[in-house]
Amino acid sequence: MSGTEHDLRHHGDAEVGGGLADFAVNVRTGTPPPWLADRLRASVADLAGYPDQTAARAAVARRHARPPEEVLLTAGAAEAFVLLARVLEPRHAVVVHPQFTEPEAALRSAGHPVGRTVLGGDFTLDPALVPDAADLVMVGNPTNPTSVLHPAETITALCRPGRTVVVDEAFMDCVPGEPESLAADRRPGLVVLRSLTKTWGLAGLRAGYVLAGPDLVAALAEAQPLWAVSTPALVAMEACSDPAAVAEAEAWARELAPERARLAAALADRGLHVVPGARASFLCVRAADGIGLRGALRERGYAVRRGDTFPGLGPGWLRIAVRDKAMNDALLEALDELGPHE
Ligand SMILES: Cc1ncc(COP(=O)(O)O)c(C=O)c1O
Repeated sequence: MSGTEHDLRHHGDAEVGGGLADFAVNVRTGTPPPWLADRLRASVADLAGYPDQTAARAAVARRHARPPEEVLLTAGAAEAFVLLARVLEPRHAVVVHPQFTEPEAALRSAGHPVGRTVLGGDFTLDPALVPDAADLVMVGNPTNPTSVLHPAETITALCRPGRTVVVDEAFMDCVPGEPESLAADRRPGLVVLRSLTKTWGLAGLRAGYVLAGPDLVAALAEAQPLWAVSTPALVAMEACSDPAAVAEAEAWARELAPERARLAAALADRGLHVVPGARASFLCVRAADGIGLRGALRERGYAVRRGDTFPGLGPGWLRIAVRDKAMNDALLEALDELGPHE
């Protein structure tokens, strides 16, 4: 299936504001942490100089056990999608959906035809579903919006000579220990994208990176605007690559898991279908009348993200961020006031 009937440029940020409780955007609440905000504030003293990537690039490389030549720092994962679309020349690009829609949007903007592999059922990935002819495959892990975590072997089964496989790991730090991450896997043709946006609450800073072979990294750097990554973003990348920061993120991911399971069970008790096996900081749910439910929740002050802009999901689908217990309970109460959701 292919086509552009979905609004690929719709994102959760368009659904919040106006005092609504935010269950639509997946950025961790209460972030950035004070120690990181302090480091960012201090970086203002250095803004007169052009950004120097040396320390941040080395820190990211260390964090993922790779040489610095295999790291490209970017203004968020979003910039990485655009650079990849500019530099790669796929004859047959395939995006595995449902997933974050910017990879497809970037490929289309660069003039590439895009095919889709649309997963159904519980949204697990069978590599055999991807056409053999695909020379570029883009997949999210864990996936936004389904929250499904694919095993690393499932992703590496997609790799073959002549094919580039791009894994968007923007939410991988939601998974304690990151057992399915391919960030340190240096096999040819494998490209991993990471983002500081979600876990560290830095959506407004624009900080992410590409991990790939040195030739592709050099080609992407060639296509990147000069000084695309600001000094504060570099400070964040260096700081968040520190083992203590990685441990802090992991502690949060461990706390997230039981609250996510509790919210999933509570939503299921209320008649909503919850995609099983959620491993990211959000749940993907289907209601008999998703559009109506989303509207009714908005009237009560709660923003959940519509699911129908994701290829592969219909109007019944919603994405709900997992917040802290008090906030999640308030959402559940609002659902109870609305009556049954079968
Ligand atoms: C799966 C996924 N990848 C990448 C991004 C973009 O991240 P960044 O803020 O680093 O550009 C998002 C943002 O919503 C996302 O959901």
